[in-house]
Formats: sequence, C-alpha cells, structure tokens
Amino acid sequence: MTRILVTGGLGFIGSHTVVELQNRGYEVVIIDNLSNTTLEVLHNIKAITGIQPIFINIDLRNQKEVNTFFNEHAIDGVIHFAAYKAVGESVSKPLAYYQNNLNSLVYLLQELTERGIGNFIFSSSCTVYGQADELPITEKAPIKPAESPYGYSKQAGEIIIKDTCKAVGLNAIALRYFNPIGAHPSIKIGELPLGVPQNLIPYITQTAAGIRKELSVFGNDYPTEDGTAIRDYIHVVDLAKAHTAALRRLIEKKNKENFEVFNIGTGKGSSVLEVIKAFEKVTKKPLNYKIVGKREGDVTAAYADTSMANRELNWKTEISLETALKSAWQWQQAQKKS
Ligand code: UFG
Repeated sequence: MTRILVTGGLGFIGSHTVVELQNRGYEVVIIDNLSNTTLEVLHNIKAITGIQPIFINIDLRNQKEVNTFFNEHAIDGVIHFAAYKAVGESVSKPLAYYQNNLNSLVYLLQELTERGIGNFIFSSSCTVYGQADELPITEKAPIKPAESPYGYSKQAGEIIIKDTCKAVGLNAIALRYFNPIGAHPSIKIGELPLGVPQNLIPYITQTAAGIRKELSVFGNDYPTEDGTAIRDYIHVVDLAKAHTAALRRLIEKKNKENFEVFNIGTGKGSSVLEVIKAFEKVTKKPLNYKIVGKREGDVTAAYADTSMANRELNWKTEISLETALKSAWQWQQAQKKS
C-alpha cells in the first residue's frame, strides 16, 4: 500500500484531501499540531471513509520530532498543507509566519532528501501572482511582489522546493490554489474559521446564520462590471481531487520536469455581488450586506487559466458555485446545531 504523509491533514483542505486519498486506496498518515483545528475532524474523516487514518501530533517547527517521525514511519510521498494562512495576521506577525511556513518546509525536505523520498506536493496560492497583467492567469504569469508575509512565505516556499529539486532530484508539484470554498457533501467536514472570518464565504454564512450582523462588501468601484472584485471560487472537494491527481502524476513518473506548478481553480471569475446573489438564490433568503471601502491589499480580479492542470493532471472541476455555496451553508447550519 502506498503510504502518504499529509501534514496539516486535519485542516480545511487537508481533511478533504485525506478523504480523497483514502477513497483511492492510499494509506494516510496525518501530522497536525491542532493549532487551527480539532481532533473531531479525525473522527469525522473516519465517519466518511470508514478508515481511521494514523494521526500524530507533531509540531513541524521541532526538527527533532520531524526526524524521529521519519525514523519511525516509511513514507512514499508527502502532501504538505501545514502552514499559517491568515493574510492580515501575517502582516502583524511576520516572523511567526516565516518561522512556521519556512522552517517546517525545510525540515521536511531535509528528511525527504536524506531518505530518497521523491514525491512532494506543496500548497501554494494564486497570491504569488499579485494583480496579474492578463486574465485568466496562466502559470507563465510573472510572480509579483507579495502583499503580505504570508504571500512571501508561499513564494519563498516554491523557490526552496525548486532549488531542492534541482540539486537532489526530488520530484515536486506546487498547486497554486485560487479561492477554496464549501464543505464535503456529507457535511461532516468543512471550514472552521477561528473568531471573526476574514474570508468571504464563511463571513456570508455566519451573517446568514445571524452570528454576524451584516457582511461588509469591500469596495464597489473596482473596474469590473458591477464594481466589486472578482475571484475564482473552487469547491474544496474539486481542489482535494487536484492533489490526488498531482500525486498520481508523480508516483507514475508522468511529470515532465522535476518541479512543476499548476493553477487550481475553476477558470470562472465571480464578483462579490454575484456570489451574494448566488447565495441568496440557494438559501432563498436575503443577505444583510453593505458596501464599505476597499480592503488593503486586495486585487481587482483573479481567476485561473486551468488548461495546464486540465491537460497534464487529467483533472477538472465538477462542482458549481451554487452547489459549493449550498454545501457551505449546510455546513454552517450543522455547526449551529452542534
Ligand atoms: N470580501 C468582502 N467582504 C468580506 C471578505 C471578503 O467583500 O468580509 C471580498 C474581498 O474583498 C475579495 C473577495 O471577497 O474581493 C474574496 O475575499 P477572501 O478574503 O475570501 O479571499 P482572497 O481572495 O482575499 O484571499 C484568498 C485566500 C488567501 C490567498 C488569496 C490570494 O484566502 O489565502 O486568496 O489572492 F492569499
């Protein structure tokens, strides 16, 4: 059985990817330090797949623990999610972001290269493109100065992996996610934002649930059709499946270079107002919102050219924005009940 280490495997994207890996017959070992999730997710993964993944609570910033883990577990590949991800927080805590997001990566890569483990998938972000000059965004679009330490940690992460691939023959794929949303159709796993959500969809669902008074729409004077900013919202299960596709490519040695990057989005841009309208349609109730000023660091529009991922990974998205929003809403309601 092929054994895959999933770091951050109890997080939002990690947990959905663990389910997809188990569905495809991989044995999964999860490392998570529970800094942004709970052990309940582990039980919910088992409730979905019938299989309890191996779970080890390790902080990847502790190099000794990482070394001990690899001494004790034979691993065939790694999907590395574990990282801090709040853009705003990274501006006030840059060192925490660099320490966590970069040290963990270096320690993992050191173990992989010393042991000749060759398959590595990295969670990257469309944030590396900044405000792209051309839309949709292809993988050839230039990397722009990042808006935040979080963004720089993803850019630097890609460079660290690329250099390592060049030096020691590691095979790696960085997946540049656009905006992941939604919850598993079982409604047993989903996004668990801590405190006040920073991202649009959890803010919308919490507003609809009455936890937040109203949604603030950040700016309506962008040069877009309705004046609000455009993003590419991808359902988390579609995103999770991109990871299993990328892993298969590495395991089957179908990669064309030893470091590859793919955009992972739907290819379709939606404005904030379009998302609100789609959400209202799905839930059949009006959402309380007001227009406020722009949020610092936000780009006008970002959506993916997914043709590379479609062709090379033999993968495409299947879930509509409406279905994704519906699952996010069902997930929100399930939280309220529990
Ligand atoms: N927005 C609002 N009100 C809110 C929250 C968001 O109007 O309360 C708007 C934002 O201005 C933006 C859109 O909704 O136009 C999406 O915002 P999100 O915060 O949900 O997502 P971002 O595109 O800003 O951020 C996402 C990821 C980051 C990643 C970034 C890269 O969350 O991790 O994409 O562009 F860095």
